[in-house]
Amino acid sequence: MGKHLLGCIDMKIDEINQIMDRAAFLQKNERELSDLHLRLQKKYIANLFLEPSTRTRFSFEIAEKRLGLQVLNFEAAKSSLQKGESLYDTLKTIESLGVDAAVIRTNEDILTSLADKLNIKIINAGEGKKEHPTQALLDLFTIKKYFTDLKGLKIAIIGDIAHSRVARSNTYLLNKMGARLIFSGPKNLMVNDLAGEYLPINEAIQEADVVMMLRIQFERMEERYINSKESYNKDFGLTEERLKLLQPHAIILHPAPVNRGVEMDDIVVEHPQSKIFEQITNGVYIRMAVIEHALEG
Ligand code: CP
Repeated sequence: MGKHLLGCIDMKIDEINQIMDRAAFLQKNERELSDLHLRLQKKYIANLFLEPSTRTRFSFEIAEKRLGLQVLNFEAAKSSLQKGESLYDTLKTIESLGVDAAVIRTNEDILTSLADKLNIKIINAGEGKKEHPTQALLDLFTIKKYFTDLKGLKIAIIGDIAHSRVARSNTYLLNKMGARLIFSGPKNLMVNDLAGEYLPINEAIQEADVVMMLRIQFERMEERYINSKESYNKDFGLTEERLKLLQPHAIILHPAPVNRGVEMDDIVVEHPQSKIFEQITNGVYIRMAVIEHALEG
């Protein structure tokens, strides 16, 4: 019995903990996956990335190959989407061909309605401004490596919250786990439907156990929200100067790609307290656990 993964908003704490534990097991026992390979080697999974991606796309593909799955990579530009076929008919076709699960990235808010109509299991790899659940799960997995107890942990999400599916999924997930959410950044890039407290940038950095910086999503902006990249860096960036405000035990996260020199100075990206590249590594184990969960429950 498998299950779609559409978002963090409806995930149960037991389900989240199960994925965390399974990802940790898969990380420790990478060389002992033969049982899993035997179970999954006849299953097919299709990757449909209808928006650009580097980390998520490769991370899913590596996870699928480590699990021994048969992997199909959909090329939108060479597909019948170009002839006007809908995403629903594309997925219905893939389902009819015997594919068991589809990993989908899209700029449309469409996955829940598709999942309601299809038997193929759908895994959300980033849906418009709505959710990016596997990013939030890998962020939680990374945080748990440094902080065993999430209760009351102060997590500051800083930057372009308004256009960020990562902020949304993380807020749902981290609030469920008992963390205290702090938001900071330009007031015109905040939202009022996410549970958390707003603090000015310097206070947010000083208070936080985890500082999660977000990319300014210029491609999703329908109007001009910031004056210039330089002014954004000065007013809201995690600069070399602001790094001095960070507590010694605090860690820095960013879902990446990073606009170096905008939301974060170059020197901060690879600073010892930055775990950005560790997040990317952890994403493979989380996606292995998520795919197994989607295919087998
Ligand atoms: N963090 C993230 O989703 O990166 P990509 O867009 O490169 O997949």
